[in-house]
Amino acid sequence: MTHADERTKFYGSFYEESYAAMGVFNNQDAPKQAEQILKLLNVQSESNILDWCGAWGRHAIPFVKAGHRVTLLDYSERYVRRAEREAEEQGVKLNTIVSDFRETPTEIQADYAVNLFTAGIGHISKADDRVALIALYNALKPGGAFLIDTMSLLWIWRNYSTSRWRESEDGTKRLLEKSIFDFTTNTIMSTWVYQDKAVGTEESHTFPLHVYSPAELIELFGSVGFGDFKLYSDFTGSEFTIDAKRTVLVCKKP
Ligand SMILES: C[S@@+](CC[C@H](N)C(=O)[O-])C[C@H]1O[C@@H](n2cnc3c(N)ncnc32)[C@H](O)[C@@H]1O
Repeated sequence: MTHADERTKFYGSFYEESYAAMGVFNNQDAPKQAEQILKLLNVQSESNILDWCGAWGRHAIPFVKAGHRVTLLDYSERYVRRAEREAEEQGVKLNTIVSDFRETPTEIQADYAVNLFTAGIGHISKADDRVALIALYNALKPGGAFLIDTMSLLWIWRNYSTSRWRESEDGTKRLLEKSIFDFTTNTIMSTWVYQDKAVGTEESHTFPLHVYSPAELIELFGSVGFGDFKLYSDFTGSEFTIDAKRTVLVCKKP
């Protein structure tokens, strides 16, 4: 199986259930994050927002609830269907597109786009990221803003660990992350192993992630036409420093 296939498999039940169940991220934090993002971007009322690689809509649904027209794009049909179900249950209208982000339809013409929690960019190759970013650029209106939230290369360098072990409180479930960092390419090769002792199962996935420095992101985004860059360490707009755990970059299509 290729790394790309492994990554696609990872974004099935593994990421949704095993990874999430071990507290790597928390769906409950998302509405607050969505509120902070709207404020940081100074989003005008009734805007068109694209949640680019938005999974099951943990940010997209709060954006709709805040009065915006939202399109969620993700290549995982499973997550997009869940987003549709949850939007319907919560009585809100969410537009959805199942698509690879390299084929983002130009017709979207969003005022704002967000790409949250290290989603898509860095997963395949720099050339693929550029193709995806050109598609995104074309799917934004002139003057539209784009926010990306991803890992901080500086934080990873300073806190680098080769393995990490998470265990559920009752000790029946374990998630092990083994990482090998290639300093010549700024790429992490991660292996995720999830064990459920109660059911007697073990599942593992291995794939690379290229981690961009802020300068590299700005160079890449600038090469497709984005400008007016602003760099933060979180969604409240805190200054980016060497201690920042996340890279939050905002830019505009002229
Ligand atoms: C780490 S998750 C983050 C999801 C969401 N932004 C959030 O914060 O909940 C990455 C998401 O990107 C999607 N994804 C990864 N590669 C993609 C691609 N090439 N095209 C479209 N979606 C992709 C995955 O299916 C997954 O839902």
